[in-house]
Parts: sequence; structure tokens; C-alpha cells
Amino acid sequence: LFASIRGRYVGVATESYNINNSTTWGKAYKNLALGSDFSIWTPENSLKWEVTEPQPGVFDFSLGDALFKLAKQNGKRMRGHTLAWHSQLPPWVTANNYTAAELKNILQRHVLTEVGHFKGQVTHWDVVNEVFEEDGTFRNSIWYKTFGPDYIEWSFRWARQADPSAKLYINDYNFESISPKTTAAYNLVKSLKAKGVPIDGVGVQAHLIVGQVPKDFEAALARFASLGVDVALTELDIRLDLPVTSKNLAQQAKDYKAAVDACLGVKRCVGITVWQVTDALSWVPSTFPGQGAPLLYDEKLKPKPAYDAFQNAL
Ligand code: XIL
Repeated sequence: LFASIRGRYVGVATESYNINNSTTWGKAYKNLALGSDFSIWTPENSLKWEVTEPQPGVFDFSLGDALFKLAKQNGKRMRGHTLAWHSQLPPWVTANNYTAAELKNILQRHVLTEVGHFKGQVTHWDVVNEVFEEDGTFRNSIWYKTFGPDYIEWSFRWARQADPSAKLYINDYNFESISPKTTAAYNLVKSLKAKGVPIDGVGVQAHLIVGQVPKDFEAALARFASLGVDVALTELDIRLDLPVTSKNLAQQAKDYKAAVDACLGVKRCVGITVWQVTDALSWVPSTFPGQGAPLLYDEKLKPKPAYDAFQNAL
């Protein structure tokens, strides 16, 4: 039970349809999501473009609104995830061969409408997601192909315009160590700040692997924070090679402690979000065949060794 410790929030990715499940299991899930472990929620999928703007200019915030309503009723804050991303786009964005001018208007309308819809209700937005390749070059997304890196700056400015009170983040995976990717991100954030672009934080997804938590995790966070921005672990999970054994669960517990310690070691690390409540609903098994069980609660919603390690680290 660790909702916020030493000034950091602890959050979780979830969805209204996970919470509103009236089976016995569903009620237990609901108790955990609504309980005192987590003080802030991230919609796992329901604020992604394919959900919120399935047709050009036709917005649907019903799933997001359902989760926001539950959050409000239960005293939870909300992170917004995500605006400019290459993935989970509806086909119309990529298939229509829009001109650059048209596509700029489309991106602007999307950011202004979505951020505007949740104005005053979102504490942090992942404005851009996964803009880098591992070698530090920009990912060749539809946005980069069409605009070069300018869309990053535009997206932050539009998001700020639509909700001046939300903290605006750049978010990515493999941001947990010193590498060409994080050096490129460091340089980008530095140049954005120099230009007066409204960027407040770096989101470090932290989709990690048991036994492979980077030794320089804290150093990587500290390097970002040295730019005068906040950092946060935004999607923490630590997957293992199945099957689950007492041995890999014990290592996973150590690894969770290491991840929490990395955040606690950096003053400007403002919070930690885990990417779902339970192994039963994790994205990992379907994405990384042979791997799974990356979260704090097992499939039966029982706390794992990692849960105790997380709590003790805080
Ligand atoms: C994942 C969700 O967990 C899955 O349910 C969905 O099918 C795919 O996306 N990085 C991100 C998240 O920024 O949005 C992704 O979430 C996981 C990787």
C-alpha cells in the first residue's frame, strides 16, 4: 500500500473496462485499482489516436471519459498517454497521402482537441512517444517523414496552448541507461529548452527484463534531470522467461527494488507508474513470446515477491 512515498507518486495503467468487471476476479481487480497502492492512473490504450479519432475529425472520448469519471470519484489523478506516436494510429492517417500542410492541420487538430477535452484533469501528458531509434537517429514515423523533427516542437506548443496546467513529457523505452538513444534524447531536450519549447519532463517507460536492469539506470535519470526537467518511470514492468519459478520471482523482486531505488536516487524523479495491476492483464505475453509475469500482482491478484520489494524500497 504505497500510493505516494517520499514525495513520489505511484501509479498504474488501467482501463474502465478492466475495473468495471463484475466477476469475483473483476471485483478484486477493482479493489486493487481503486485502493491505496496507486494514486494516479494512465489509460493503457483509451487515449491513443486509433481510439480517440477513429475517423478524420470525428472524436470519441467515451472510453477515456469513463476512466476519468472513475478516477475523479475515487480521488485518483490522471496521466495522459499519448499524442504524437507512430503506433496505434487509425489507418486513415497513413493511408490518405495527405500533403504536409494537411497533415500538420490534422496533427494540430488532434492535439488541441484531445488535450482540450481533458483540460485541467490531466497532470502529465506524454506528448510525443518513441521518437528515437536505438542509434539515436529519429524514428522514421509518418510525422518525421513528413515534417522532420519540427513536429515534436509543434506538438509541445499545441499541448501547452490547450492545457497550460499539464506537465508535458517526451516518453520512450530504453531510456534507462546511458546510450546513443538517451544521448540523442538529452541533446533534443536541451535544444527544445533552449528554444523555449514547453517541455517539463522525460518519461522513461522502463519495460525491463529480469536480471537485466541497467546498472546506470540512476545515472541515466540524473543526466536527464540535470537539464532542469522532471523524470518519471511511466510504464514499469519487469518481464521474465516463463515459466514462473521461485528463483526468477526472487530476482524480479531485486530488480523492482533496483528500479525504485534508481528513481528515489534522483530528486527530480517525480513518480513511478507500473503498466497494469496484474500479470493476467499484462501486454507482455502477447508481445514477447515466452516471456511474461512482469507485474506486482500475479494472475490470481496475489501480491508477488516484487510487491514486497517495491514496498520495502519506498
Ligand atoms: C501497449 C498496451 O499495453 C497494449 O495493450 C497495446 O496492445 C499496445 O500498447 N509503449 C507504450 C505503450 O508507450 O502505449 C504500450 O502499451 C507499451 C509500449
